Amino acid sequence: MALTLNTNIIISLLMVLSIWASLAMSRTLYEASIAERHEQWMARHGRTYEDQAEKEKRFKIFKQNLEFIEKFNNAGNQTYKLSINQFADLTDDEFLASRTGYKPVPSQSRTATTSFGYENLTEVPTSLDWREKDAVTQVKDQGNCGCCWAFSAVAAMEGITQIKTGKLISLSEQQLLDCSTNGNNQGCNGGMMENAYNYIINNQGLTSETNYPYQATEGTCDTQQETAPAAQIQSYEKVPSNNEEALLQAVAKQPVSVAIDSSGFRYYNGGVFDGNCGTNLNHAVTIIGYGTADDGTKYWLIKNSWGQTWGENGYMRIKRDVEAVEGLCGLAKDASYPVA
Ligand SMILES: *[C@@H]1O[C@H](CO)[C@@H](O)[C@H](O)[C@H]1NC(C)=O
Ligand SMILES: *[C@@H]1O[C@H](CO)[C@@H](O)[C@H](O)[C@H]1NC(C)=O
Repeated sequence: MALTLNTNIIISLLMVLSIWASLAMSRTLYEASIAERHEQWMARHGRTYEDQAEKEKRFKIFKQNLEFIEKFNNAGNQTYKLSINQFADLTDDEFLASRTGYKPVPSQSRTATTSFGYENLTEVPTSLDWREKDAVTQVKDQGNCGCCWAFSAVAAMEGITQIKTGKLISLSEQQLLDCSTNGNNQGCNGGMMENAYNYIINNQGLTSETNYPYQATEGTCDTQQETAPAAQIQSYEKVPSNNEEALLQAVAKQPVSVAIDSSGFRYYNGGVFDGNCGTNLNHAVTIIGYGTADDGTKYWLIKNSWGQTWGENGYMRIKRDVEAVEGLCGLAKDASYPVA
């Protein structure tokens, strides 16, 4: 009897031990496989780290982000997908500080009101893609510099220039970065499209990307290129806030700059985005069209400045005509466009 009991205890102990060992083992294997994926990811995105401590810190962030993305995709019940893209080793704060950059001046000190030239437009096409009308240059990459505001303003200006003159010219974000320090514009530390338009109006134009190429860092204003404009605008107008109908009237006529809360779509990889996000405007993009997906979901077509591998070849579809008046992620709060 005593002997049987002892044997049972020993067998139980052994079982517990072996389960513990295999758990520890699979835990180690799991960590190793994530480490392997981190290495592959580093190679794919040309990422290097200063030292082992930095690498371990980045590995932890990568692992958390990877687990979040895989859990999301594996749930399989969403209208869009995420991917482990070039931002996977950044924390949310690092991401917002370095890859976005919309900094509005406080609304109480913003007095500019403009007329809305498209307010009486009644006929709009059921869908529209300004790329098909050759009014959109290829997707650019702001890199590690919070100047989305320059990319958004430039894309809208490239659009209206092509619509008015028939010429699609890639224009210079770097000129805005270096020279448009009016208002609260602070180069890579953020700014606003309206300030950029004001600068371009006062400067009587903006030069081309070729003449003044993008460096992803703020430099001194090249006054020679500054005074060699490739395109001009006369003024800009704001789309009435919190009104997706008005936004549609404007986009039907030209690409439109919008501010947006980007916190929900950093890993977006395709589909119609309808995820959770606030209305804390921290990023700027350009709406270049709209349409309706096969399942009937209406969407806006957005050009981003995070390179061509992000999203749908650099673009995003995001749900249109949502219940919230601000639009999804606040995209209808602060829209504007240049007038040429
Ligand atoms: C998808 O499934 C997850 C987990 O079951 C759930 O939390 C989430 O609300 C679902 N989302 C949708 C859009 O149905
Ligand atoms: C729109 O129509 C109203 C009423 O006819 C008119 O007062 C207003 O000036 C028009 N707006 C524009 C931008 O043409």
